[in-house]
Amino acid sequence: MSDTTAKLTLGGADTSYAVRSGSIGPDVIDIRKLYASTGAFTFDPGFMSTAACESGLTYIDGDEGVLLHRGYPIGQLAEQSSFMEVSYLLLNGELPSKDELAAFSRTITRHTMLHEQLATFYRGFRRDAHPMAIMCGVVGALSAFYHDSTDIADPHQRMVASHRLIAKMPTIAAMAYKYSIGQPFLYPRNDLSYTANFLRMTFGVPAEEYYVDPAIERAMDRIFILHADHEQNASTSTVRLAGSSGANPFACIAAGIACLWGPAHGGANEAALNMLREIGRPERIPEFIARAKDKNDPFRLMGFGHRVYKNYDPRATVMQQTLREVFEALKINDPVFDVAIQLEEMALNDPYFIEKKLFPNVDFYSGVILSAIGFPTEMFTVLFALARTVGWVAQWNEMISDPEQKIGRPRQLYTGPVQRDYVPVDKR
Ligand code: ACO
Repeated sequence: MSDTTAKLTLGGADTSYAVRSGSIGPDVIDIRKLYASTGAFTFDPGFMSTAACESGLTYIDGDEGVLLHRGYPIGQLAEQSSFMEVSYLLLNGELPSKDELAAFSRTITRHTMLHEQLATFYRGFRRDAHPMAIMCGVVGALSAFYHDSTDIADPHQRMVASHRLIAKMPTIAAMAYKYSIGQPFLYPRNDLSYTANFLRMTFGVPAEEYYVDPAIERAMDRIFILHADHEQNASTSTVRLAGSSGANPFACIAAGIACLWGPAHGGANEAALNMLREIGRPERIPEFIARAKDKNDPFRLMGFGHRVYKNYDPRATVMQQTLREVFEALKINDPVFDVAIQLEEMALNDPYFIEKKLFPNVDFYSGVILSAIGFPTEMFTVLFALARTVGWVAQWNEMISDPEQKIGRPRQLYTGPVQRDYVPVDKR
């Protein structure tokens, strides 16, 4: 708690509110008693200035381009850690010991299979169903299969549900892909890592052994780390809001997947890839930069700019390096790579982008990498959902364990008609 208070004068009366400080980041004005003491609400659509919860998971400083999970910088985690280790860190608060990591990985591995009956759900979908539609349906349906982990008041059951969700998401995602291309589902294999197992279930076929390229496994694992959590973004806030009513964890994560599906949230990497392909060759970059700067042209450089980051998105730095590694491993010689690198360089040196603090975001490179690995664009958001599941369950657990947790219930500024009397239809 800071020793400053915020004073508000409303209708001639003064009220004051405590100002609270976190470990880093902006202070918050605690206005929980505002309505009781003044009869007024605050108005903040889009939560531009509102902290909706207390959290110890992830910290972002958008001006400095900083992203920390439990205090650890994302660059260090992406370089030196693994997705399993980051998952443990997010869920438990500390990095695991060697034994703890081995035990956690074993637990997750043991939960990767799906109830056999769930396979029949897939056959109910049209073959051309969007895989995110399948994800929403199948993840929501998990609550009908795993009754022994839906008592949210029991910390053990909450942890079992969290492990199940992290473990089953790759299987569910790979099956959604297999169904769309008419290939048989592959069962998980416990001798493979979390990420290698996902790659095999996605790209392997029962007719032959699947070789997991270590460079691709590493790149995919890094992409998962980069998407694991991003504090109170729209889908995470959706999971928290759904969970605040006491809904079961599988239903809450299905709600998060539905929110992530929107193009303003999970869909930007596809747009960035399409743009780079449309530019096609480096000579055309100036034309597109000019269009992005033209006030009369709605075109924007996709993968540039961010609501929070007004500096280089630290995840984009790792993505650029990963892109190089994937292209090298797969011996890809695609002009889209040169277009991306040169476009970034030109935009970063252009006064328009400098003045507006527009930098590449995580989506600028991720679409190109995923496409090079072999994923169709419809799968991009599915991969995001797979990785973000760990952030969602960690945030959900944090919320349920918080003694100050209340059902989320925003208020409104009502602008509709005032009370009036009903007029029977023959008199209207
Ligand atoms: N290209 C050209 N100009 C841009 C761009 C861009 N990519 N982004 C913002 N600007 C300009 C706007 O025209 C605006 O100019 P003005 O002040 O002259 O009107 C100014 O920069 C501020 O832009 P806003 O849209 O007000 O900024 P906001 O914070 O609301 O938007 C957003 C952030 C939506 C990400 C925006 O930068 C954008 O549309 N980027 C392209 C899409 C994209 O890459 N989205 C992925 C985001 S990351 C993620 O979701 C994981």
